[in-house]
Amino acid sequence: MSDPNIRSRKIEHIRIVVEENVEFPGTCSEIYSQIKLVHRAFPGIDLSDVDLSLNFLNYKISAPLMISGMTGGDPATTKYNEKLALLAEEFRIPIGLGSERALVLHRNKQEILHSYRVVRQIAKDVPVIGNIGANTLLDIGIEDISYIINSVDVDALAIHLNPAQEAIQPEGDTRFNISIIEKIEEIMDTINVPIIIKEVGNGLSYEDISLFYSLGIRFFDVAGACGTNWVLVEKYRQKDHVVSDIAEHLSSWGIPTPIAVIEARAAAPDSFIIASGGVYTGLRAITNIVLGADINGLARPLIQEIYRGGLGAAKKFLETMIREMRIVSFLIGAKNVNELKQKPFILTTDILTYFKQRGIDLNEYKAIRGGKQ
Ligand SMILES: Cc1cc2nc3c(=O)[nH]c(=O)nc-3n(C[C@H](O)[C@H](O)[C@H](O)COP(=O)(O)O)c2cc1C
Repeated sequence: MSDPNIRSRKIEHIRIVVEENVEFPGTCSEIYSQIKLVHRAFPGIDLSDVDLSLNFLNYKISAPLMISGMTGGDPATTKYNEKLALLAEEFRIPIGLGSERALVLHRNKQEILHSYRVVRQIAKDVPVIGNIGANTLLDIGIEDISYIINSVDVDALAIHLNPAQEAIQPEGDTRFNISIIEKIEEIMDTINVPIIIKEVGNGLSYEDISLFYSLGIRFFDVAGACGTNWVLVEKYRQKDHVVSDIAEHLSSWGIPTPIAVIEARAAAPDSFIIASGGVYTGLRAITNIVLGADINGLARPLIQEIYRGGLGAAKKFLETMIREMRIVSFLIGAKNVNELKQKPFILTTDILTYFKQRGIDLNEYKAIRGGKQ
């Protein structure tokens, strides 16, 4: 399963997400605007009382925010992982690695191992999360999984599901059959770090979460359809016009992030839920926590800032984001993450209708949306 293209593909992906318009067309601002938090003229706290820190994977992190998995696997990506790790360590937030498939394919190439390991070397005091594609599991052995966990010393392993991306990708691997479940069960019996099931930007549904929950998985990253749009990213790489047209038709495909958060919490009451996919403002991040997410994940804006303006620009972005999260928490009178999860919210009729048709009881969900406190 040697794949010489895997390294250049990563570089191409970075260039496309920075230089091309790969956003979901419009739908998400509309959906977030249909979820209202309640303004408190008397918040009952001082802004300086707000403390958004929490525990995740046995580390204390400073805010419900993480850097989602993006890069690694090519020496040219080391500089990105280095800067992302510096951000993670300085802001005390978790960081994910990009797919570690290249690590398995090029086991004895030190510079490839270094492109991932640099993250753990710099981000010593925060969770570092490994990453592998669900369909890649069909080609590799348990010893390879142990290798990608131990060689980088990760605290959890994210397994990504990306059928929409693979279906449009020129060299896509569209095997998403039941054998993957058997493989994941086998892995769960052997490894000693938790597994996180994640999408990459089209969202996990109630059904997906229920399936993996029934296997015993308790960590999910919904990666919803609100931010980086992999159908469009792959469209830019696709020379076949028929597939390009299909990508255009599917450019809004998926479950928007806040909807996926509600579906996830309803399906997995005691699980740790990560809300990612277009969580580009503090208001969106806090809304997701009120809806029941435990933390938010952020990918493309950080690589964009680093690519265009360097580490300083990315720091500014994160500072603004966290400041906005603190202000919104203050304005709804919540001084910490647990209080955020108890605050009221209002959904408009469109969202209520959606959940009615999905058969998801919002009253039951509201009663458990705080998750495991
Ligand atoms: C350049 C880039 C590379 C990515 N590579 C991976 C990957 O290797 N594995 C993965 O699970 N997700 C990958 N993602 C998806 C992100 O982890 C995240 O789920 C998704 O981009 C949605 O977040 P965003 O809207 O903040 O970008 C990548 C995202 C970007 C922008």
